[in-house]
Amino acid sequence: MEQIRIRAAQQADLDACCEMLAESRLGEVYYPSRKMIADALEKAVSQDSFLVAVNSADEPVGFIWYQARGMFHSFPYLHMIVVRSDQQHTGIGRKLMQTYEQDSLRLLGALRTKAYLLVADFNDRAFEIYRKNGYELINQFDGLFRRNVNERLMVKTITRQANTQ
Ligand SMILES: CC(C)(COP(=O)(O)OP(=O)(O)OC[C@H]1O[C@@H](n2cnc3c(N)ncnc32)[C@H](O)[C@@H]1OP(=O)(O)O)[C@@H](O)C(=O)NCCC(=O)NCCS
Repeated sequence: MEQIRIRAAQQADLDACCEMLAESRLGEVYYPSRKMIADALEKAVSQDSFLVAVNSADEPVGFIWYQARGMFHSFPYLHMIVVRSDQQHTGIGRKLMQTYEQDSLRLLGALRTKAYLLVADFNDRAFEIYRKNGYELINQFDGLFRRNVNERLMVKTITRQANTQ
């Protein structure tokens, strides 16, 4: 696999992130316009944890957006993970998920906690990836953000690991 590095997103990365989100089903369902995507990502970068996976040319090929205290003001919540469509299935998503978990523990100053995420019922691939990675389904919210889309809440107990990434 090409050398992939994960670093904090900068303003200059946002166009590439907008592009990969717009290309995905996720973008299609939740953000009907480019302006909505740009506004959401702009806000995310300034308020939350927003990291990009970059290739050897320092170009974004994926991103992850989370809040270390996003769930009940106490537990990590993964807001969004996206890998550029031509770079999927190469392990970048796995690397970004590890970063979500380990960086949240670092930000919380904890050795162990529960990490949460929501996944839409149309997204079977992501659901399977999370399940394989140890996330358990705990509830389903019907029509939570969009009338015809049900959201599945998943949780995993995560522990601090030495030398991740
Ligand atoms: C979901 C997404 C981020 C995954 O990224 P990715 O880079 O393709 O994932 P990876 O290549 O790292 O694969 C992750 C793991 O899932 C496994 N996996 C992949 N497809 C799978 C499937 N259909 N069933 C079970 N496991 C699967 C892989 O084997 C890999 O397992 P491993 O780490 O044990 O080897 C990517 O598909 C994406 O950006 N989708 C569009 C946006 C989206 O839907 N985001 C999620 C909702 S917020």
